[in-house]
Amino acid sequence: MSLPQLIMLPGPTNVPARVYAAMCKPMINHRGPEFHELHSRVLENAKKVFQTENDLFVLTSSGTGGVECAASNFLLPGEKILVPVGGTFGERLADAFRTYGADVIPIEVKMGSTPTANQIKEVLKRERDAKAVAVVYNETSTGTTVRDLRQIGEVTKEAGALFIVDAISVLGGDDLPVDKWGVDVCITASQKCLATPPGLALISVSRDAWKLAERAKPRTEYFSLTKCKKFRDEKMETPFTPAVSLFFALDEALQMILETGLERWIGRHKKAGSAYYEAFGRMGLNFFAEEGSRSNVVIAINMPTGIAAKSLRDRLRTRYGVVVAGGFGALKDSIFRIGNMGVVTPREVVTTVSAVGAALDELGFRGHAGEGLNAAIRLISDL
Ligand SMILES: Cc1ncc(COP(=O)(O)O)c(C=O)c1O
Repeated sequence: MSLPQLIMLPGPTNVPARVYAAMCKPMINHRGPEFHELHSRVLENAKKVFQTENDLFVLTSSGTGGVECAASNFLLPGEKILVPVGGTFGERLADAFRTYGADVIPIEVKMGSTPTANQIKEVLKRERDAKAVAVVYNETSTGTTVRDLRQIGEVTKEAGALFIVDAISVLGGDDLPVDKWGVDVCITASQKCLATPPGLALISVSRDAWKLAERAKPRTEYFSLTKCKKFRDEKMETPFTPAVSLFFALDEALQMILETGLERWIGRHKKAGSAYYEAFGRMGLNFFAEEGSRSNVVIAINMPTGIAAKSLRDRLRTRYGVVVAGGFGALKDSIFRIGNMGVVTPREVVTTVSAVGAALDELGFRGHAGEGLNAAIRLISDL
């Protein structure tokens, strides 16, 4: 029997019915008044969720397109950028800038921990001509969130460098007031904490970022921000055909988030995040991330000795209809990851915690499934 699946991945996530319904609206002309109105509302509401007055663009691409857009619009070949690397997405961010010719100075971060402002400050002192610092706020591969992000922004701006943040897996799921924290370029994607299907990337661009963009002739057509700005300013359009149905979906999701209230929407992720850590800890499981770096939106759990992540994932999917992720690369079989993103209600928490407890028990782990579930139930009583 095939079960309806609960998608507890670190993206894509479960999508609310009203967002799916919005996607089914009849097609409109992407060069006509209905799209202009839709586009304008999406930009206005997305800025509220980003907490920014900066320019914001919605790109028809997955999150990597947003990263590629940042890598291709601001720096000239040979210019220096600092990139902390503590996991797969830090590596990809560094690679994207390398691809466009930047001189990437990687800052090694132990997997499971996160970069600190002091660490970045030291490197900035040495690399005085660094033009930018790019940070993955939530490293999805290790379940870590950079708790020093605001302070990293401060040291970056003090050094006169541009502050670029890959917030793809976390914007909407944890604190990120873009303007208050001095983020010049912030990137996110539709399929994570915004509870929308995959296919759109969002990028905000500050005045300082435009100054750099104006010198650097974009080396991309599809992701040229100058082009995006021109089309938006002149016609409230996008240069190329946008994924109109996904714009309908994102529009609905943003309205839903703002109706809920941004603080409350983020607060749900925090509350459920704490419940997962408490529940799995009580069950007798350990976490991959160090305590001060743990992510609320990606819970990375070490596999108990002798049980492969694949057997747990298969069992969760086939027996309980709960879909979770394994690890990347070397961590493939030694951790499993739960996405706590977008649709965060008691149903997701209780179902996932109990299914993990049951599946591990069936696989021979002698943990405390009941104790874990009780802890989760108590912690989400007002979710
Ligand atoms: C932190 C981070 N950066 C970049 C990406 C790449 O995004 P996409 O797979 O949407 O291209 C992801 C995807 O999971 C991510 O979590």
